[in-house]
Amino acid sequence: MRDVKPLFLLLLLHRVTNGQDNGKWSSTTSTEISTVVGCKVEIEWVNAGPVDEFTIYKKQEHILSFHSGVSDNLIGNERLMINQQKRRNGELITVTINDVEIGDSGIYTCKLLPSNHSKNVTLTVTDLKWKTGKEIKAVNPWTPVQLSWEYKDSSGTAMVTAVRRKPGNSDWAEILARWEKGSVVQVHDLLRSRLEVDNFMTTAAGNKRTSIVLKDVTREDLSYQYRLLLEFGKCQKYSEPIDLIPEQCEAAPECSMTVRNVLIILVVLLLLAVISLIIFSYILRRRFIDDAANTERNRYASNRDIALSSRQVTPLVPEPLLDSENGNSASTSTRNGTIGENETVEKSKSSNYESSS
Ligand SMILES: *[C@@H]1O[C@H](CO)[C@@H](O)[C@H](O)[C@H]1NC(C)=O
Ligand SMILES: *[C@@H]1O[C@H](CO)[C@@H](O)[C@H](O)[C@H]1NC(C)=O
Repeated sequence: MRDVKPLFLLLLLHRVTNGQDNGKWSSTTSTEISTVVGCKVEIEWVNAGPVDEFTIYKKQEHILSFHSGVSDNLIGNERLMINQQKRRNGELITVTINDVEIGDSGIYTCKLLPSNHSKNVTLTVTDLKWKTGKEIKAVNPWTPVQLSWEYKDSSGTAMVTAVRRKPGNSDWAEILARWEKGSVVQVHDLLRSRLEVDNFMTTAAGNKRTSIVLKDVTREDLSYQYRLLLEFGKCQKYSEPIDLIPEQCEAAPECSMTVRNVLIILVVLLLLAVISLIIFSYILRRRFIDDAANTERNRYASNRDIALSSRQVTPLVPEPLLDSENGNSASTSTRNGTIGENETVEKSKSSNYESSS
């Protein structure tokens, strides 16, 4: 019983403070928001307590109000919307501004009623100006190409990504490189060895400039469009695309290099062709000679067969044609007989040897 009492008191105290104090603003939402003209922006407030009625001020001017689920757009601006949602960490109040303009910049104040607890959020809208436009670059395969973009963004808060896609594809999913606060933080894994990515440069006019060099351009690379993507929160701004097209060979020094390379390759191919032609013709000739010999032999054999069949000699007897021509009875003798003859020669030789020694 002694333990339960303080817990009960604590619970009661918590309830009382929660009911009384609905002015606890969460610090999870930012108090400074930057965006660029044309984006959609959401200004958020999160309050711990129950929120039933509140008003939104901009530069002290009453622009929106909300009471028991009903919102009122007090200045008739259709680009402005207000929303209230219950969240785990409290109640979320959102003011959405579509297609923001420079004039939307300023301090937005959310004031809860009847407590008068308020919180300010500062919105800064800047203009984004691309200094580089649509471009078509003629490139030779196997030479490097530099893709450059320049823009003016006073907010300086953009996440910057160089992307490419094949024309007709709807999304620019292939990320070549990514920068954060002007420094390279990510480079395409597969293209890493062929990509040269530098940190951002700031020009004298205060523009941001970046470029990537794609080395040893392949036919595949030429089939893409290349863009720079700037992200301001959820708002995405793409540069105009750079298209790569294969260059017709003209007086460019890299081009003549290519011509020389192509010539060397052609000569090598020609040599290979000649060598293989020689080898092939040699094989062909060999085969032709063999074939001719075979036909000759076959004709000879068939002649012989005719001769044999006309004489009705059994084919078991070896070289009967020679027999008939030479009339030599010795060659008709069996293998044993021949060996016997050789033996006699050997014998006579050895006997000769013996007699000489
Ligand atoms: C809130 O402000 C209004 C007028 O500005 C005032 O009349 C009212 O008493 C204030 N409420 C609280 C709880 O301070
Ligand atoms: C909000 O901004 C206004 C105008 O600058 C200022 O008068 C007010 O004190 C600020 N309120 C809070 C809660 O910071």
